[in-house]
Amino acid sequence: MKIVIASSESFPLMKTGGLADAVGSLGNALADRGHEVSLFIPGYPAARAQPKAAAAERVLQLKIEMGDQFLSGDIRTFSPRENLRVYLVCREEYFDRSAAYGNGERDYEDNAERFIFFCKAAVETVRLLNLQPDIVHAHDWQAALLPLLLRETERRLGATLALKTVFTIHNIAYQGLFPASVFPRMNLPEELNSIDGLEYYGQVNLLKAGILFADRVTTVSPSYAHEIQTPEFGCGLEGVVQSRSGDIVGLLNGVDTAIWNPATDPLLPARYSAGDLTGKVECRAALLRGCGFDPRFKGAIFGMVCRLVEQKGLDLVLGNESFFLREDCRLVVLGAGDKRYEEALRALQARAPGRVVLQARLDEEMSHLIEAGSDFFLMPSLFEPCGLNQMYSQVYGTVPIVSRVGGLADTVTDADAEPQAGTGLSCMPTSASLGDALVRALRLFRDRPRYAAVQARGMARNFSWARAAEGYERLYEESL
Ligand code: ADP
Ligand code: GLC
Repeated sequence: MKIVIASSESFPLMKTGGLADAVGSLGNALADRGHEVSLFIPGYPAARAQPKAAAAERVLQLKIEMGDQFLSGDIRTFSPRENLRVYLVCREEYFDRSAAYGNGERDYEDNAERFIFFCKAAVETVRLLNLQPDIVHAHDWQAALLPLLLRETERRLGATLALKTVFTIHNIAYQGLFPASVFPRMNLPEELNSIDGLEYYGQVNLLKAGILFADRVTTVSPSYAHEIQTPEFGCGLEGVVQSRSGDIVGLLNGVDTAIWNPATDPLLPARYSAGDLTGKVECRAALLRGCGFDPRFKGAIFGMVCRLVEQKGLDLVLGNESFFLREDCRLVVLGAGDKRYEEALRALQARAPGRVVLQARLDEEMSHLIEAGSDFFLMPSLFEPCGLNQMYSQVYGTVPIVSRVGGLADTVTDADAEPQAGTGLSCMPTSASLGDALVRALRLFRDRPRYAAVQARGMARNFSWARAAEGYERLYEESL
């Protein structure tokens, strides 16, 4: 099949979170399976600086209609591997910024403009370069307009395009909600500025366009596919999702073993496998040193790697401050994001020097070291569409502690509830329940044979991307 993928992030070109991992791995897995993949992402400086992008050539200059203006941009393209071609949508004014969406305190004011432009440029490129895809697969709100714009192109040309569209919701909490004044910038028929279109309580909701107008809608775990049809998790779009309930499916992300495999990971100081964990001991020592902790420390190390946002359950971790002050354990958090979490974690670090540390930055290498060197990986999210780190940590022999929501519920089995099958510990998304799980973790840690059994079961799990890609392949075929 010829497959166009459009996303604001794709590892290694641009990454702020799991969207990048999921899209990058999906593209690679589909290319490996012999499909012809065209990946559209904005031409961020980070993407253009990739070694493989050095050979990118400018293949198109575009004039994109935005309201009553025409804005220029260009398309640069390169092929990082067989069957995969990247199209960078470039417009300096919009994408020459080091951060993707904002400065950490607030989002950029022109995000609607930037991503409307991105979607329109992708549609124009598909048409002008005559890519003739079978499938156009758009991800999250930044690319959510694509299915609708393609349909509108059909209407304008009076022709039916022989393609089907798929839209994946990676996180329904991010909707691309903008003032009604952005509607004319899309040049869509006025009737779409209504409750059956993009209008959402007097605003424009881009995610809604993807959910309503794609031929198929997916999300990234089976549990989340149910959850987003309820008021508790639907973030106000539960009714819209319900209206597509027959067409929505939850396909679990996987682990890209080319990047996340402790036996081959080049970012680790030592490699290891389930059969020989000595390398993990070295990683532990390197992690303790890297955190400024005593490298001889023998107790439990809790690691956390996440965007510093409410979703990730940081309030629950902070709510258990007394645990981290009282118990002989270590906590390392690697994360960037909301300043208020950064400040709260720094304050905790100041109260527990040498025991708690915040590494406030994006750091690929440190994220691998935390996965490898910790004893427990903390992920008490309030909601989690899929979540990748709980899968990475199982593969790395680091026992995950998760809340029972979304993809976390689908991928981690509690070792106390199911002693023969457990691969981690799970709790409710509350401080008290997390506190209980932390105490259970220390109990597990002291019971070495039991800890080793839980660890070994996690390392034996297979979260392969091949399985995930097969799921998408089947969906594409069905929709065609
Ligand atoms: P989400 O997409 O909601 O952020 P996921 O668990 O799906 O959550 O994916 C998060 C990804 O981002 C993981 O690959 C994780 O290692 C990475 N990540 C998050 N914060 C950082 C950071 N500060 N430095 C490096 N990697 C990070
Ligand atoms: C989103 C979700 C996360 C998911 C990722 C990749 O960012 O928050 O749970 O794993 O997308 O699908």
